[in-house]
Amino acid sequence: MRFHGQTIGSTGKANILIISIFDFCTGMRKKESTYFRNKVVLITGSSRGIGKTLAWQLGKMGARVVLNGRTPDRLKVLEEEMRLEQVEVKGVLADVTVPDDCERMIREVLDHYGRIDILVNMAGLSMKGEAADLHPDVYRMTMETNYLGAVYPTLAALPHIRVSKGSILFISSVSALMGFSQFSAYCASKMSLTALAESLRLEMTDTGVYIGIIYISFTENEEGKTILDTRSRLVRKKEVYVGKMDYVSREKVARSIIRQLARRRYRVNPSFYGKFLSFMKRFFPRLSFSILHMARRKGII
Ligand SMILES: NC(=O)c1ccc[n+]([C@@H]2O[C@H](COP(=O)([O-])OP(=O)(O)OC[C@H]3O[C@@H](n4cnc5c(N)ncnc54)[C@H](OP(=O)(O)O)[C@@H]3O)[C@@H](O)[C@H]2O)c1
Repeated sequence: MRFHGQTIGSTGKANILIISIFDFCTGMRKKESTYFRNKVVLITGSSRGIGKTLAWQLGKMGARVVLNGRTPDRLKVLEEEMRLEQVEVKGVLADVTVPDDCERMIREVLDHYGRIDILVNMAGLSMKGEAADLHPDVYRMTMETNYLGAVYPTLAALPHIRVSKGSILFISSVSALMGFSQFSAYCASKMSLTALAESLRLEMTDTGVYIGIIYISFTENEEGKTILDTRSRLVRKKEVYVGKMDYVSREKVARSIIRQLARRRYRVNPSFYGKFLSFMKRFFPRLSFSILHMARRKGII
């Protein structure tokens, strides 16, 4: 084999392979670091939690970030903090469960930046309780936030994302890979995003629009996170889980999202737990059911 005009042996071939892999990886990293420069990125539900961490990381990479949430103070404080760090940022108050709010949110983005390149459907609502004990409102509210709350911003943004040949990413969960006890309404709402993303992806072929979905695993929650109880009341999630072995940090999750957006990969299941779950469900469906059943009896989940 000849490389740069020189004949090389098997050790040389191995070296070239290593150098090529290294070049490929650094090239990818370089692409990620420049990919977001000046791109207008709207992240719904970014005043707190994973959305906020993602907003910071993208802002530091030169993206023009649009924050969203329903709590004015939280949004304002974050906007000011990010501006102080020279991030180009705009906050838009809007409830993603209200179609008119979503139309206005996109209009505000266009009025301010003139375009929209990336929509990340992050806003979410979790719950806990046995399926049979849940008030019907728990099912309605989780579906409204997690499913329709991704549909409405997507409908409003899509015509403009077609123009920019931009991207739409749906934030799903490992809870969409299999039904878990205590999380029926949440699992159903996140599973429905898979169907939406699959259909949309087919319809967007040849338009230049990228559609993606990511299945996030259990993540360290930000202090103050609220979820629905069985009677549809918002209650503080007690566990924060910082440093717990099987909980991923928000920073790591945000990095996976950034990598996915830059590489335009359709489906990403970044965690070991999520990969294990997918594998088990596909090849050993009965065994995975039995394991979850046992975990439920022992009060683990
Ligand atoms: N944390 C996890 O372990 C985990 C695991 C898998 C997937 N996920 C998914 O990742 C996403 C973020 O989770 P997180 O734990 O970071 O959530 P979080 O801490 O509860 O933050 C939720 C964010 O969404 C906003 N929001 C909620 N409802 C909204 C609405 N109707 N309209 C506009 N904004 C709304 C909240 O702000 P306001 O309340 O001010 O509106 C907040 O900024 C969610 O889609 C979640 O399902 C999380």
